[in-house]
Amino acid sequence: MAGPVEIAPSMLAADASELGLECRAVEAAGADRVHWDVMDGVFVPNLTYGPDLVAACRPHTDLPFEAHLMVVDPDRLAPRYAEAGCGTLLIHVETCPHLHRSLAAIRNLGARPGVVLNPHTPASAVSEVLDLVDEVLVMTVNPGFGGQRYLESVEPKISEVRRMISECGRDIDLEVDGGIDAAAAARAAAAGANVLVAGSAVFGHPGGPGRAVADLRAAASSASPRA
Ligand code: DX5
Ligand code: ZN
Repeated sequence: MAGPVEIAPSMLAADASELGLECRAVEAAGADRVHWDVMDGVFVPNLTYGPDLVAACRPHTDLPFEAHLMVVDPDRLAPRYAEAGCGTLLIHVETCPHLHRSLAAIRNLGARPGVVLNPHTPASAVSEVLDLVDEVLVMTVNPGFGGQRYLESVEPKISEVRRMISECGRDIDLEVDGGIDAAAAARAAAAGANVLVAGSAVFGHPGGPGRAVADLRAAASSASPRA
């Protein structure tokens, strides 16, 4: 069964001039992993982190790194982010014509394979690869930018993915990403999520990352059917 609720701050909302220090801050804040939003300016309009930047931040924290690859060619780039220190590589269904092979290749790199669903993509798109993944990431915004509004319409899909995971009997994390604040955290956890990505809600919290992480975890844990 999925573990306790985990919080994964998205560095997209961090101070881009101090990313190494921001990694230390989220570790001190009690976060469980660091979420790197890798964007190529083609699959999504925004352009963000190269592997060398992620590698430069690796020594600043012991937290696990996950790379959310919003790129048109994840097969070519995945090895670079594994080498940079990302233990989890999340690839979009929408960018992988040979998804089964791409996920197996990530496992062969020694990383945790994760598969990502955009808001329009049905849960059934991952039904044939649940035996290959350690994580399913359900997008609760359209990818590309932080600070967007959480899409409540995605919640039935979160529950459907949780049902599919339960049926397959493997210990697979169900992660949500986009517009996650305390209220959305409670809703998404109630629907079946056990890992929450949050950017604005962590780095924009008036009480700082520590308060933000505690609030998110409390909201989700109290709502989670697995708590
Ligand atoms: C959007 C990214 C998200 C985003 C989350 O494409 O995948 O991780 O940065 O940021 P917030 O929490 O501000 O919506
Ligand atoms: Zn993301």
